[in-house]
Amino acid sequence: MKVQVCIIGGGPSGLLLSQLLHLQGIDTIVLEKYSRDHVLARIRAGVLEHGFAKLMREAQCGERMDREGEIHHGIHISHDGVMDRIDLSKYSGGSSVIVYGQTELTRDLYEARDKLGGKVIHNAADVTPCDVKSDRPYVTYRDGDKVIRVDCEYVIGADGFHGVSRKSIPKDVLREYERVYPFGWLGVLSRTKPVSAELIYAKHERGFALCSLRSQVLSRYYIQVPLSDTPEGWSDDAFWGELKHRLPGEVAAKLITGPSIEKSIAPLRSFVAEPMRYGRLLLAGDAAHIVPPTGARGLNSAASDIYYLYHAMVDHYKKGDDAGLDGYSNRALARVWKAQRFSWWMTMLLHRFPDNIPYDNKLQDTDLAYLFSSEAALRSFAENYVGLPF
Ligand code: PHB
Repeated sequence: MKVQVCIIGGGPSGLLLSQLLHLQGIDTIVLEKYSRDHVLARIRAGVLEHGFAKLMREAQCGERMDREGEIHHGIHISHDGVMDRIDLSKYSGGSSVIVYGQTELTRDLYEARDKLGGKVIHNAADVTPCDVKSDRPYVTYRDGDKVIRVDCEYVIGADGFHGVSRKSIPKDVLREYERVYPFGWLGVLSRTKPVSAELIYAKHERGFALCSLRSQVLSRYYIQVPLSDTPEGWSDDAFWGELKHRLPGEVAAKLITGPSIEKSIAPLRSFVAEPMRYGRLLLAGDAAHIVPPTGARGLNSAASDIYYLYHAMVDHYKKGDDAGLDGYSNRALARVWKAQRFSWWMTMLLHRFPDNIPYDNKLQDTDLAYLFSSEAALRSFAENYVGLPF
């Protein structure tokens, strides 16, 4: 089989890129290791930047997002028993974010790919990028006993942190930067009315908590937990009790609880691999970088990679201009690092760090007090939270 672009990974990044390229007449195939049901069972974050939303519309996938997604003009940060609101629109020059779950977005992308007859192969086993340093790269995968070879011009590695793409870049080429945080987030999804119309990030001496939502009938809550905890060790009652402890009294009193329909623990990690291009292999999204979820940057960081890749590919195929491809790694990384900085900073600001000395805790309190006392700091927060320009 021969295509122009072989995309490894059928998550939102890979699907969005294949859809955008298809609409420009560029032939792609998406190879996904897991089944569609498995991909759609993953519960991920749900805060989109407008830059991402625009790309979804350009891919002709924005209809349901625009209908069902909620525009949020602000967020709350609770600390020391009080709630402070950050007016994102006011401090970002009129911007906002869209609350729409990654799972729904992925569903829309699959539907759009199906409608156009896009090639999306599920359960592709042993996917292997080959000869990516040559002009004729190819990718092999296994379908049962059959090994299938896909010849292509470019390989996109959009297969996540654990994927094969980044691992196929030689160790002496790749530089990896990583920070692992000494805790995780225990997340619960429940079919209950959200406690607040806007997100609440809660700093508390017992640990961080977050009240988020997917819709007016579906809530998503998180609490910071030690890495040694397991979801099975947390009954629903224990979760709701701990969440209430960490919220201001008037919020806790309003919290509607219910059975969890999903419960999982995600460790927090910051990670960047450089460069994001090796020969004809280009990395995108979690394959190259991970953020802790605190700043809601993960999916949005992937979207900027896709934006740069999409334009680079179109310039290459339509204009014979390779500047975008040649500059892809540097350009993508410049924005990736800014998202890393913001996610790291928000994580440091709001969590309880078991090894902190009293001095560190004082600085943390001061950082928060400064944020709410300075218009410059609020502007900086808002422009990062709604997403820096591509
Ligand atoms: C979520 O809704 O899952 C969510 C929202 C905001 C974050 C992280 C996760 O910062």
